[in-house]
Order: sequence, then C-alpha cells, then structure tokens
Amino acid sequence: MTGDASGPGDAGSTWAILLAAGAGERLGADRPKAFVGLGGRPLLAESLERLDASDWIDAIVVAAAPEWEEPAILLAEELVASKVSSVVTGGATRAESVRIALAEVPPDALVVVVHDAARPLVDDAVVERLLGRLAEGLDGVVPGLPLADTVKRVDRGVVAETLDRDSLVIVQTPQAFVADRLRSAYAGDLAGATDCASLVERSGGRIGVVDGDPRLLKVTTPEDLALVSSLLAGG
Ligand code: CTP
Ligand code: MG
Repeated sequence: MTGDASGPGDAGSTWAILLAAGAGERLGADRPKAFVGLGGRPLLAESLERLDASDWIDAIVVAAAPEWEEPAILLAEELVASKVSSVVTGGATRAESVRIALAEVPPDALVVVVHDAARPLVDDAVVERLLGRLAEGLDGVVPGLPLADTVKRVDRGVVAETLDRDSLVIVQTPQAFVADRLRSAYAGDLAGATDCASLVERSGGRIGVVDGDPRLLKVTTPEDLALVSSLLAGG
C-alpha cells in the first residue's frame, strides 16, 4: 500500500527509510514489534517522531508489516509527522523491505538514510555525523561502536583465532548512503544481506564508519525493551 506521494521531499533532498515491517518474533508480543508499547505509545512513534523532527531529513518512507499500514498512517497523522511521504507494505526480509521502500524514493533524492524502527532512540547528532562523513566522498557511512569483550572465532567448539578487537566494530543504524549507490546495490541479489552497507560493500562501495551511540541499541528481546524503556524514561 502506498500513501500520498506528493508533498515532502524536494529535489536533491535527504530521504529516510524507516523499517518497521518485521514480525518481532523474538520479542514474542501479540503484534509486530513496531506496535508494542514503549513509553505509553507504539514503539514506532519514537523513531518516527525523532526523524520527522530532524533538521537533516526532508522526507520519510515507512515500511510497515502487512495489515499494519493503516495504523502506521494513523500514527504518523497523530504525531503530525508531516515528512512522511508514504507508507509501504514491507517484504519478507529486511532487505526486501528496503527495496520496496526505495522504490518510493524519487530519482532526484541525493542521500538515503535507512533506519530500523527497532532502534527507537535515534538522535540528530548521529545523523549529523553520518552526513558529514558522507560528504567526504564515500558511498555510505555507518555508526560503529567498539567491542567491550574479547572476540574469538570458533570452529566446532574450539577456538580457531582471537580476533584483533581494535579492528572490529559493532554496527548500528541509521546508515546513510549516496542514493544512486544504494539503488544499484539493491538492484542485485539480496541474499545474505545483513545490513544495507553489506550490499553496497558487495557492489564495490566504500563505507565509512563514524562513532555510534550506545543508546541506539536494538530492541530484539523483552529484556531489550525494558532497557530501552528505562533509557527513555531517564531522558
Ligand atoms: N524489518 C523489516 N522488514 C522485515 C524484517 C525486518 O522492515 N521483513 C525491520 C524491523 O521492523 C526492524 C529492523 O528491520 O526495525 C531490524 O529487524 P529485527 O530487529 O530482526 O526485527 P524483526 O524482524 O521484527 O524481529 P524478529 O527477527 O525477532 O522477528
Ligand atoms: Mg528479523
């Protein structure tokens, strides 16, 4: 389903794709993760409101789960999230949802920022870091956090190698891309895509890394939801 495609987003603008089409199986609620309660409203409200308020984002495409498009449109209306250009029905995988949403981004958009609604506490500082670095001539930029723990590669229950932690990062969303680079990456095979950047990397793109944000943690399990709730309540 597609809403009104006219309105927000001028030529050369920065578009956001907000991914909210997952089932939330690991959370185990009676509804998709995007619509479980967080701070007294649907989880999707938090990231939607924040991206809508961002000085860096001109227009937003939301991917919702099948049967949940209408609630997503109503939520955008309630929040007066005027940058929402359309709500699309997501696909069977995250990558397919991105591809479907990307089709709603107009050809003259210059930059696309892809964000998981499952990371509610997105803020403008991380978006600013991403876009600043993207302007240096990279194809994409992702937020990364250092690893706190030692990481080992294991083969059949035996350590094969202790990895150099200093060269590893944990990658989050939002991720920012030159729109054409993202489009060509998503025109190909989506199999094995773990994040958007991995597809751009596979098509030969250069991806920069900027500082991530510990508050951008992803809600996967009920424990994560409790943690994000307390972060939200703490301001
Ligand atoms: N996502 C999506 N379309 C899909 C699958 C995932 O838009 N077909 C989105 C989710 O809504 C989420 C993000 O991608 O914002 C990251 O996915 P994940 O945390 O795995 O969420 P779910 O797929 O909903 O959770 P689960 O894997 O436990 O079912
Ligand atoms: Mg999933």
